[in-house]
Amino acid sequence: MAKANVSLSGKDILDLASMSVEEYELVMQTATEMKKIMKRDIKKVPSLRGKSIINLFYEASTRTRTSFELAGKYLGADVVNITTSGSSVTKGECLRDTILTVQSMACDAIVMRHPVEGAAAYAAKISDAVIINAGDGAHAHPTQGLLDMFTIREKGKNFKGLKMAIIGDILYSRVARSNIAAWTKLGADVNVAGPKTLIPYGIEQLGVTVHNRVEEAIEGADVVDILRIQLERQKSGLFPTPREYARIFGINEQKLKLAKTDVTVLHPGPMNRGLEISWEVGYCDNAAIRDEVENGVAVRMALLFLTLTGGKKIENID
Ligand code: NCD
Repeated sequence: MAKANVSLSGKDILDLASMSVEEYELVMQTATEMKKIMKRDIKKVPSLRGKSIINLFYEASTRTRTSFELAGKYLGADVVNITTSGSSVTKGECLRDTILTVQSMACDAIVMRHPVEGAAAYAAKISDAVIINAGDGAHAHPTQGLLDMFTIREKGKNFKGLKMAIIGDILYSRVARSNIAAWTKLGADVNVAGPKTLIPYGIEQLGVTVHNRVEEAIEGADVVDILRIQLERQKSGLFPTPREYARIFGINEQKLKLAKTDVTVLHPGPMNRGLEISWEVGYCDNAAIRDEVENGVAVRMALLFLTLTGGKKIENID
């Protein structure tokens, strides 16, 4: 495999639309090496020794926060977690002051999740630390997009001409936006389906095909990405009853039969089982949902390594 001839040294990772295919490739190749470290008995290398990383999370998270923490620790960095419910944010501190405070402690990277679109880009403007966007409102979730890319490639699928189906709550999904940006750039045929009220107006301009029925989007698909219904972001009236949603838009075994037999089923988690995804589909052989979690650590190791060291030698790796 050709070595990607680009560098992410010192770069903020804000979204996938502004990253190049070569940069994706560099992350994929580096994550492959990182996964080898994860498989070792002693999962620790000193590549980021002396670097400090702060996870600044204004929204709930299990997978993303924990995997960033482990990723930093496996590479020897010091990692501190700030959950805003237990921080001075509850005393009214503004985002600018929180970022500047954290930066004053000489941190090298801030991994940030925030409910407002553009929050990570704002942090990048005012901070010297590398900013990694761990989700900003409904805008972008680049590390989820990259771990999905890694997972799909690991299944031997290489995007060009593949039929991808993204199903469900497109309106509020930063995961959908990141995957659409990357998959269209990589030449895949991207299809979306869900309740009309949850499909943003004009989304076709991003290069996707919109279907009224999920069956049309899934038919012959190589990858089906099922989105969580973002119940916490629903304002009013956009969502049918859960029972109606599950019946019409929920992915069960019967609907999944329409896809290719080797279809890869993705879900960023957490799953609302019985709503957007049936119990059987969540546990079926085609489901790569736990691979996504595992690969999330490798991809985040790769991003921390590439942004903080510029991709210097990975110590002690064969
Ligand atoms: C996603 C998120 O927070 O955007 N979760 C995740 O990071 N694994 C998707 C979601 O919450 O539905």
